[in-house]
Amino acid sequence: MDHFLYKDGVLHAEDVAVSDIAAQVGTPFYVYSTATLTRHFKLFDEALTGMDHLVCFAMKSNSNLAVLRLMCELGAGVDVVSIGEYLKAKAAGFPGERIVFSGVGKTREEMRIALEGGIRQFNVESEPELEALNEVAVSLGMKAPIALRVNPDVDAKTHAKIATGKSENKFGIPIASCREVYRRAGEMPGIEVIGIDVHIGSQLTQLEPFELAFTKIAELTDTLRADGHEIRRLDLGGGLGIPYERSNTAPPLPVEYGHLVRRTLGHLDCEIEIEPGRLISGNAGILVSSVIYLKHGEGRDFLILDAAMNDLVRPSMYDAYHDIIPVVEPVVGAEQGPMDIVGPVCETGDTFAKARNMPGLGEGDLVAFRSAGAYGAVMASEYNSRPLIPEVLVKGDQFAVIRKRPSFDEMINRDTIPAWL
Ligand code: LLP
Repeated sequence: MDHFLYKDGVLHAEDVAVSDIAAQVGTPFYVYSTATLTRHFKLFDEALTGMDHLVCFAMKSNSNLAVLRLMCELGAGVDVVSIGEYLKAKAAGFPGERIVFSGVGKTREEMRIALEGGIRQFNVESEPELEALNEVAVSLGMKAPIALRVNPDVDAKTHAKIATGKSENKFGIPIASCREVYRRAGEMPGIEVIGIDVHIGSQLTQLEPFELAFTKIAELTDTLRADGHEIRRLDLGGGLGIPYERSNTAPPLPVEYGHLVRRTLGHLDCEIEIEPGRLISGNAGILVSSVIYLKHGEGRDFLILDAAMNDLVRPSMYDAYHDIIPVVEPVVGAEQGPMDIVGPVCETGDTFAKARNMPGLGEGDLVAFRSAGAYGAVMASEYNSRPLIPEVLVKGDQFAVIRKRPSFDEMINRDTIPAWL
């Protein structure tokens, strides 16, 4: 469920008409709903009630400072994957003890900053990383709290580019060899072993792969405890998918995921940590764009928008489907016939949808891409020298620009020309 609905014939974000935001901010722009973000965080939080737990928002899905502040105020933790994300989380108000640091390539410098600034745990993904973290912690006279990210060799049954839990993926330590790595970690003076971490992929639409992975983690917890390790926290990663296509069967709900966690891991008396990104922010955001032209091609029509692949790369990168709807509610029978919906960037890959039926749209009309709150703005670039687009946050009947559109001068003046040219 989200808070983008037609009211009086116009798409609203909560109680604000999307057309009013467009008039003030100009298109294209992203808009997020406070109510949807809050609701989705709470669904996870409530799904884990009865278990000691922390929902750590995967900020890679949406790292706007205002969104992070909202999550922080709701009591969330945060999952970061770079020191940039760590510093952003800190700037948004997260205390170190609510920040989890994941990622395969943490540098020594990143480790030092996080240790000095405070950290809940590092999710360590390899032996060389473990050695490096131990060295950095020892040099600071500290102990780094860690979970080892285990690769359970489970097929997440999702898009290949976002599956992470198979043995051929770059992520984690193979489950078969992790006992030995835990043994080494247990002997390191700068390391404090506190748990196990697993994340098998993103946009999972079935619970079965989670079940396979969590069952393996339960067995591993027993084994490691028998080996003498104090395993007290299990980080289960993120990955629960969202319904992008309304006609498809909807993925499982957080409450069902919560039941699964309880059933597979509840008996271990561990603190449960999860790192959802998409399910919290995905359906909490839309991308609003204007039609520039309706172009009649040979045997094909093109709806050319002012948003492009640099603003929302998911369709060209993963062939991802996004619902695209008119901001003014269409009248029944206004179907225009199939058309390709494209952006102005000079690549054929700059295509949002092929042969999509759209209702009577023409120049200047507004459209909204649904489910664009996750992996939308964060993956944007300035390709074709198109400045990053604004982000807006709505709460009830108020809205605020939470990232302004840079001027062309700001974009141009970031570069410098050497004196010798
Ligand atoms: N934890 C870790 C260690 C991750 O790598 C990820 C996502 C998450 C949590 C959050 O997963 P989520 O709950 O959002 O599925 N750009 C792609 C998605 C990449 C996901 C990367 N890792 C997309 O647009 O579909």
